[in-house]
Amino acid sequence: MSAKLIDGKAVAAAVRADCKKRVQSLQDRYGRTPGLAVIMVGDNPASEVYVRNKIGACRDVGIRSEKLLYPADVSQAEVIERIEALGSDPNTDGILVQLPLPKSFDIKTVLGAINAAKDVDGFHLYNVGGLVIGDTVFPPCTPYGVMCLLENENIEVAGANAVVVGASNIVGKPMALMLMQREATVSVCHARTRDLAEFTKLADILVVAAGQPNLITAPMVKEGATVIDVGINRLPNGKLVGDCDFAGVREKASYLTPVPGGVGPMTVTMLLVNTISSAERTLSQAPQEPTAEALRA
Ligand code: GUN
Repeated sequence: MSAKLIDGKAVAAAVRADCKKRVQSLQDRYGRTPGLAVIMVGDNPASEVYVRNKIGACRDVGIRSEKLLYPADVSQAEVIERIEALGSDPNTDGILVQLPLPKSFDIKTVLGAINAAKDVDGFHLYNVGGLVIGDTVFPPCTPYGVMCLLENENIEVAGANAVVVGASNIVGKPMALMLMQREATVSVCHARTRDLAEFTKLADILVVAAGQPNLITAPMVKEGATVIDVGINRLPNGKLVGDCDFAGVREKASYLTPVPGGVGPMTVTMLLVNTISSAERTLSQAPQEPTAEALRA
């Protein structure tokens, strides 16, 4: 069997086209477009690339964005003050603090300062709690993108054995909760799992987010499984690869996401979706100026 490759770029392009329409519709109905504030502290080169991509993606669909850059030695109090000000700014619908933060920062305190109604990354405890009880306001972007890819391929989640490799707060844990919410039977494996293959071989849906090239090889994959590779690793020769032995796993799986071009393009796309959803929610609840027609009545 040679797996069907899931084209994340194509799905992302379709979702972004829909984003553009939703932004235009907000502009037509309410006279303003969604706004996202991105906060970055220090000069982590990887973060700079991610933030540039996020700002560019916003521009492409018509979302206003502002990048707030702070030097690594800024005080946590100053950053929190800004986050709180953005929380009550009526023109800001989404607030994102790019991680990692400098070591002197307490991530929980900083993320806790974000207005939960604008937490488009879904990292605030309120939104994490929402995910646990299946009442999510902002699903975290990477696992949300994975769910979107599964849905787009009509892959049955209910009743499936799903195995998530990696238990990070950003990907593995929310991924497991979302799959559970859709009635999969979920196992979460991590660095201390004794026999990884014992679990992965059971998976109808295998999501790998471990950050280790070639961690998953063909003998570890069930014949016909759907394999979602969230890993992004740069090899010494400069090549970008995921966490799976691509050529081997491709012969065993029925669906596989390539790296690059699989999950990657979906992450930023779902950030756009969350920002637009936030604006739609806010604007549809805001008291409206009476129209001229209403005033005449
Ligand atoms: N750093 C790595 N991934 C992410 C992400 O999805 N959101 C934020 N805010 N920071 C990150």
